[in-house]
Amino acid sequence: MLKIGILGGGQLGRMLLQAAANYPVETLVLENDTECPAAHLCHHFVKGDIRNFNDVYNFGKTLDGITIEIESVNVEALEKLENEGVKIYPRPSALRIIRDKILQKQFYKENEIPSPVFRITEKKDDLKKFYDFLPAVHKKASGGYDGRGVQVLSEEKDLHLGFDQPSVLEKKVDIHKEISQIIAINASGQTALYPAVEMIFNQTLNQLDYQLSPAEIPQHTSWRVEAIALKVVKELKSPGIFAVEIFIDKNGDVLVNETAPRVHNSGHHTIEANFSSQFDMLWRVMLDYPLGNPKHIVHAAMVNLTGSEGNSGNAVYEGIDEILKMENIFLHLYGKKETRPGRKMGHITILSPEKSDLVYKAKIIKQKFRIISHQSQITV
Ligand SMILES: Nc1ncnc2c1ncn2[C@@H]1O[C@H](COP(=O)(O)OP(=O)(O)OP(=O)(O)O)[C@@H](O)[C@H]1O
Ligand SMILES: [Mg+2]
Repeated sequence: MLKIGILGGGQLGRMLLQAAANYPVETLVLENDTECPAAHLCHHFVKGDIRNFNDVYNFGKTLDGITIEIESVNVEALEKLENEGVKIYPRPSALRIIRDKILQKQFYKENEIPSPVFRITEKKDDLKKFYDFLPAVHKKASGGYDGRGVQVLSEEKDLHLGFDQPSVLEKKVDIHKEISQIIAINASGQTALYPAVEMIFNQTLNQLDYQLSPAEIPQHTSWRVEAIALKVVKELKSPGIFAVEIFIDKNGDVLVNETAPRVHNSGHHTIEANFSSQFDMLWRVMLDYPLGNPKHIVHAAMVNLTGSEGNSGNAVYEGIDEILKMENIFLHLYGKKETRPGRKMGHITILSPEKSDLVYKAKIIKQKFRIISHQSQITV
């Protein structure tokens, strides 16, 4: 049986392990937090830092393959392991490009992949040179996730909000829709494209509110999305699964925002709504099996369940009974003991052939399901 390691033990790792249970594979997780969502579902849990060379190298040296559920991993250790014959998907060369937003933007430019125009800043002071470039979005080259590390700079007086570390300054796009295109690619270069999904954002938290699959976009736009995302994945020259985040602007132009070289939040619905889920698909790639069928069986919406504002501590799931009475909804809780405002604690997938039903149920879930902390439940 092949031994495959996962770097990171969050919810993406947890769902990967749920899918791994169907395959002849021995799974290992490297993660510092022994109570993490993936800790109890793998065959072997190894405590260690995914950013530390020795921890990653020692974890990987007896394995057949490694994949990731988060990009902030020690790429140097993965390079050494790859040279020693361990199968690393995504390849360290692709990770190197993606983990640094400056390199990622340069990669799009060099490969003529449409993406918002950008400038590079090394320190906050550099922003002064670019005031005529505003409105723009400042993004840390590394260390940002879930919208942290992203700052909109609308006018000159906002420049002080910028980051004092290497970053990219990107022209602000007049966004019509945000789309995610997930693509799997195997070692022989065969690809499987999921139907694109449409993301609806919560402006306050700068986090996904709910998402719809398939996206409601014209056929010619969807062909363009597929062609551009496919070019990104082919040029990265690595097997694996990739989520290409895309903006469709008010003119209908298609621009790449960023690429995640792993299973992605925007693919959670594929567990119930598509023939082969993104998690199932990645195992097929890792284990050199034929790719699965990415097509959707039914339309779906997915709602992230995040910790309510003002609540930190032991998680309590308010409204869970009412939500579970609803038809064709699928609850996934990630087993995180502690809730914090905005923390991703779980998600719910809704299936229905009717868009109105999906949107209605998504709104009800947002209203009725709250993740609060134990103390506040007593005092409220
Ligand atoms: N150039 C841009 N113009 C307009 N809006 C933007 C631009 N870049 C980013 N945004 C907005 O900010 C959000 C977060 O940006 P981005 O995806 O680059 O950051 P992130 O920290 O990697 O987020 P996540 O981990 O949630 O994907 C985008 O989904 C989009 O809503
Ligand atoms: Mg993003």
